[in-house]
Amino acid sequence: MAHATDAGAGAPAGATPSGEALLDIQHLSITFPGSGGLLAGGRGPDVRAVVDASLHVDDRETVGLVGESGSGKTTMGKGVLRFVRASAGTIRLGAYDVTNFGRKVPRSYRREVQVVFQDPVASLNPSIIVGDLIGEPLKLHFGMGAAARRRRAAELLEQVGLAAHHLERYPYEFSGGQRQRIAVARALASEPQLIVLDEPVSALDVSTQSQVINLLEKLQGETGAAYLLIAHDLAVVRHVSRRIYVMYRSRIVEEGPADRVCEQPAHPYTELLLASIPDADPVKQRAQRALRQKLSVDQAAAVTGETPQQGCPFSNRCPYVMASCREQFPDWTAVQGGGQVACHLHTEGPTLAGGPVTSLSVPA
Ligand SMILES: Nc1ncnc2c1ncn2[C@@H]1O[C@H](COP(=O)(O)OP(=O)(O)OP(=O)(O)O)[C@@H](O)[C@H]1O
Ligand SMILES: [Mg+2]
Repeated sequence: MAHATDAGAGAPAGATPSGEALLDIQHLSITFPGSGGLLAGGRGPDVRAVVDASLHVDDRETVGLVGESGSGKTTMGKGVLRFVRASAGTIRLGAYDVTNFGRKVPRSYRREVQVVFQDPVASLNPSIIVGDLIGEPLKLHFGMGAAARRRRAAELLEQVGLAAHHLERYPYEFSGGQRQRIAVARALASEPQLIVLDEPVSALDVSTQSQVINLLEKLQGETGAAYLLIAHDLAVVRHVSRRIYVMYRSRIVEEGPADRVCEQPAHPYTELLLASIPDADPVKQRAQRALRQKLSVDQAAAVTGETPQQGCPFSNRCPYVMASCREQFPDWTAVQGGGQVACHLHTEGPTLAGGPVTSLSVPA
């Protein structure tokens, strides 16, 4: 586990000098009203999908956002796209103050931020041919006529590795990987500054996953778009992201340069995520197994248990839990090698009986 330093104690994750980042999210919370009708005994408790999360994406940067199912990743993305409203905090993209948009989101903002979802079958209208799917934003945002749209749509298709003759076909005629390429071409048509990629390869087989990821990397070089890459699988994001944020049950718990986060994780939950990535090396496999056991991943109670109402959300699952973990969410502490962690081990660990906390890793 990476060592923490005092330098950034108390600083919020993702804090950045205002105005420098392309996307700047500060202390974002998103709460959904509880559901449940009369039969269910009235309204259920509100769902706090995102709590006090700060994150930034620089110009032309790829930033990974990882965490297990239900941690709030998609809700963060939807906040940026302004599909849902923030309950607290701010979201800025360049000069846009997203949190202060009225009922109607400016069309220019809709152009600047695009999204690619996990399931291109659901996101691409099945009754529209590819040429029109890609042509739609060209008409809407650039007022292009039919001939110009066709030419540009063909160029975009070629840019994502598909031949122009596919323009006449319907989405269902393509494989999963091809459909995702079409979704990317449609997103690129608006020439956005930022693309939210929400589990863009999760539905694809492993070899198609790497083709699409490589394509996304190539396209970033060509177009300069920044990416917010959302995935539950750290293996997908680690090689393409410059920085990674780790989310656990509505909270960001760690952030930092991709290499540091993946090689010297500072939060026990990040280590657990890393231990879940299959490794071909049998020695590493053994170490991972031991670590998973140590971190109680197989304890059903811990996995399905309620999120603690206060303190660190990982406290009921963490083998290193201390009294303070159950009382308050930890301050942010800068980590050697870059980034920050919200974990009491890094602020109080050295005072633990048994000496300083140096690593949670099981030696190979
Ligand atoms: N519209 C909504 N109304 C009520 N609750 C919601 C709504 N959307 C999401 N949630 C809840 O918010 C929490 C976070 O959901 P979200 O979809 O953001 O997680 P996620 O990290 O994207 O998960 P996954 O990896 O499964 O996609 C979950 O508990 C989810 O049930
Ligand atoms: Mg999601």
